[in-house]
Amino acid sequence: MLSAKSLFQEILANDDSFALFCSIAASGESQGGWENARIAALVPESERELAPKITRHGADEDKHGRIFNALMKKRGLEPVPVPPETDYTMLLEKHGIGLAHEQLKRDQRLTVQDIVTYLSHSRVTEQRASEQMDLLRKHFADHPDIGRAVKQISNDEDNHLAYCHEELLRFAYAGHGRAIQRTLRECALAEIRIYRDVSLAVMANMGRILGWSKAKSAVLAAGIHAMYAYERLGGWRRMVSLKTPERRNALGGPAPAEPEFV
Ligand SMILES: [Fe+2]
Ligand SMILES: [Fe+2]
Repeated sequence: MLSAKSLFQEILANDDSFALFCSIAASGESQGGWENARIAALVPESERELAPKITRHGADEDKHGRIFNALMKKRGLEPVPVPPETDYTMLLEKHGIGLAHEQLKRDQRLTVQDIVTYLSHSRVTEQRASEQMDLLRKHFADHPDIGRAVKQISNDEDNHLAYCHEELLRFAYAGHGRAIQRTLRECALAEIRIYRDVSLAVMANMGRILGWSKAKSAVLAAGIHAMYAYERLGGWRRMVSLKTPERRNALGGPAPAEPEFV
């Protein structure tokens, strides 16, 4: 039977598909790390207090990139090129979601509005990251090779999501509510489309590597389209709600000195 678990087991069992999976993941994580580091460096004076949390956010994403690379290395695999149509982070940026890399490369302070945009973008993408890692954690937490990495990354993504909720609520109370709602909505509607397209592209690549039948690929593509239909019809709303998280100040203080589990 086709399930998320059996699919991922298949990807995990083959060196080429595993290398592609890890390479795509590592590249997205390190782009996220770079973006956050730049945003932290350009935070406006009035939001100075946020800078260490943004730095921590970026450091976590960089760490995730290193973990995915280490998972490949451990298996004697080299990173492989990431097909552009599978590059989620790059495609989001191309579609104007979040802050443009051109803007982040300049040495110009960001505005409070930019910070609100960054947090809204992160609120949506961290929801995705948190859900995906949660799915992996559910099925592979005890896996001998990837279990510890999956648990660590999943825990971090939950922290990132909690942090976005908390900081956005703070900005909403400070009068940015409308801008936040508008940005979250735009971002979520664009994200679900890009996520669908990236999922189709990743599955097409995996299907080629793993020699999937036309029928199997068609079933998977139908599943991805069904997921998009669900998200478009209202599932996207889960990505734009704001509530006080159970984990408060999740990115406050320095990163805990835990080893990087691989
Ligand atoms: Fe991450
Ligand atoms: Fe994250």
